[in-house]
Amino acid sequence: MSIAEVKEIIKKFMAEGEYVGAAPFGSGHINHTFLVNMKREDGSTVDYVLQRINKNVFKSPEKLMENYVAVTRFIREKIEKMGGDPMREVINVIPTVDGGYFAIDSEGEYWRLLVYVTDSLSYDKVERPEQFYESAVAFGNFQYMLRDYPAQTLHETIVNFHNTPDRYRQLMEAVENNAAGRLSEVEAEVEFARARFDFAHTLENAHSEGRLPLRVTHNDTKLNNILFDINTGAPLCVVDLDTIMPGYSVNDFGDSIRFGATTALEDERDLSLVNFDLSLYELYVKGFIEGAKGGLTEGELEMLPIGAIMMTFECGMRFLADYLNGDTYFRVHREGHNLDRARNQFKLVSDMEAHLDEMRAIVKKYS
Ligand SMILES: Nc1ncnc2c1ncn2[C@@H]1O[C@H](COP(=O)(O)OP(=O)(O)O)[C@@H](O)[C@H]1O
Ligand SMILES: [Mg+2]
Repeated sequence: MSIAEVKEIIKKFMAEGEYVGAAPFGSGHINHTFLVNMKREDGSTVDYVLQRINKNVFKSPEKLMENYVAVTRFIREKIEKMGGDPMREVINVIPTVDGGYFAIDSEGEYWRLLVYVTDSLSYDKVERPEQFYESAVAFGNFQYMLRDYPAQTLHETIVNFHNTPDRYRQLMEAVENNAAGRLSEVEAEVEFARARFDFAHTLENAHSEGRLPLRVTHNDTKLNNILFDINTGAPLCVVDLDTIMPGYSVNDFGDSIRFGATTALEDERDLSLVNFDLSLYELYVKGFIEGAKGGLTEGELEMLPIGAIMMTFECGMRFLADYLNGDTYFRVHREGHNLDRARNQFKLVSDMEAHLDEMRAIVKKYS
């Protein structure tokens, strides 16, 4: 993508001012992001964030943008009512000149234009435990702002994304097919999954029994998807809303615990180094519950620890299924990489299961 093309595509949006320049921006890995500088007639400047939506990852950009616009508008109205700053505490989508929310270029690529959140920054990785806590506050607050959003009206842009029974079914299909002839190597891991067949249904059952509400979930709760205020250091808003979907709050929570409250990287092979970090878990619980400001139901609070185990179990099953299928989905960098990842996740599952009582007590403490 060249800067000249940026200059062309920007004309399709209701942006203020004349184009001055653009440069690649941020360190996201999914979309192509540019910071675009514009100049108004009075000489003042205004910046925008221009993003090319990754069509390989997101198959229906139209539905994605419908979700995106509906949810950000809803949050915007709340912020206005609460007397906050609607230009900085939520992402604002700039419409196109013909009233849409994305533009398509000559190559069929989809683009969107966002208001640049001034005086903000994001962090690529957690360097201090407080950042993990702050990300919990930000995603807890996201749940708070959307606590009365009719989540069932959103498109499920990735079908069955966190449907754990379906992930289980896919794993068993991979076992059945044994496409890469690797089944004999992974009997213990398959057994581990089979032993948790009932567990896999816990959240779905709770939902159908009315104990777990459908919510708007973010599904990519990484630290660098939060913008912080440069001046106060406090979280301002959540970005990267491509994967907002109907789901369970405990899954957003759980995925954060899965990747954030562990003592090792996701593909560490020495399992003695892979442990569940209860103190990081506690920090996240505290932040998430504080951020949600009473917006979570009793059922949700009760199932937070289950969400953590569920997301970790599900992820392990996905790695294991991919290993059996011959590494067709996750990129691998070495022989057995997906199997290492599966074992790593299952080790964490066991560790969490062993600490379930403590995990529950910690939720109680902050509820
Ligand atoms: N509206 C915005 N204002 C300021 N910075 C932004 C805005 N949107 C995105 N960013 C920055 O750009 C980075 C990449 O954007 P993101 O939407 O997360 O793309 P990706 O899907 O590629 O991760 C973010 O981590 C954030 O630092
Ligand atoms: Mg991102």
